[in-house]
Amino acid sequence: MLYKRKMYTKSVLITGSSGYIGSHFTKYFTQKGYHVFGLDVVEPKKELRHYLKDFLHTDIADTPLVLDYLARHKPMGVIHCAAKALVAESVAFPQMYEDYNVTRANAFLETCISSSIANFIFSSTAAVYGEPLHIPIKEDHPRSPVNPYGETKKKFEDILLKKHHDKEINAGIFRYFNACGADFDAELGECHEPETHLIPNVIKSILEEKPLHIFGNQFSTRDGTCVRDYIHVIDLAHSHYLLMEQMIQSQMTDNIFNLGTEGGYSILEIIDAAQKILTKKVHFEIKNPRPGDPATLIASHQKAKTVLGWEPQWSDLETILTTAWAWHQKQ
Ligand code: UFG
Repeated sequence: MLYKRKMYTKSVLITGSSGYIGSHFTKYFTQKGYHVFGLDVVEPKKELRHYLKDFLHTDIADTPLVLDYLARHKPMGVIHCAAKALVAESVAFPQMYEDYNVTRANAFLETCISSSIANFIFSSTAAVYGEPLHIPIKEDHPRSPVNPYGETKKKFEDILLKKHHDKEINAGIFRYFNACGADFDAELGECHEPETHLIPNVIKSILEEKPLHIFGNQFSTRDGTCVRDYIHVIDLAHSHYLLMEQMIQSQMTDNIFNLGTEGGYSILEIIDAAQKILTKKVHFEIKNPRPGDPATLIASHQKAKTVLGWEPQWSDLETILTTAWAWHQKQ
């Protein structure tokens, strides 16, 4: 006798699904066979729509609407990307960051718990570490943020970890170093308004024929400009996929991971690479340093490698710059 086995499609809700990182995750998870439910205060671009099973156009703290959405779709997990994420803006408007990244995020977490969401992955940041005491930075490095952005991410990490330890939800935390690059089909890419990130600004300076501003060249680094660990957004997406697959199977014990390459480039090295790889001249001017910028941030990713079997595959500068360039040229 033949029994019909019901096949379940895995499903995930991604907050901030219209944003740079959330939109790449949406496409990646869909391509891995998941049903992806999006939630954002910004409507998805048309290129993203067909990767979304459904989309809720609202704020994470709009509890009645979010409760209803979760009840209808019952996702196996949530990836919480929605956040305010600009260091300089957080210095100017710390209360706005506290409200969005802590108060509203907490309301959203409570909604998830009361909806019996099993698994919750939080997009945190290297900014929780502040000025590092040693390089590469491991996950047990003291957290001492030097700006309100990092401070609010740290606060929400602590709220989430308490819920995890109390077994109210199975939580995972990823601390991203410098996310960059774009989708390989050039459908999605990095666009913030205003743009403050280095890689898109290097590309924009070429396309718009305006000099790039370098914020400080007197840091204690090999050439005086800040060193960062640049990680391709598809490498980030893959790590979330690996963690979500594990979380669906079991409760996480080791649940905080850095995501970086264990290497770093200075701003001048990025400019040099862009000139060679894109065969374009990058003009630049040296400006004052930005408040709250540490000199060097480089991750250790040994935990993600050991626990998740994750290693960066697409974070060489050639892939980062060519994918970002291809997307920007289409805009
Ligand atoms: N920079 C410039 N000119 C620009 C843009 C950036 O000189 O036009 C410099 C910055 O001052 C910094 C470096 O390039 O020294 C990288 O700046 P980004 O704005 O690209 O990235 P940040 O390192 O400031 O921050 C990013 C994320 C944070 C995260 C951090 C962790 O935005 O969320 O990486 O490394 F916390």
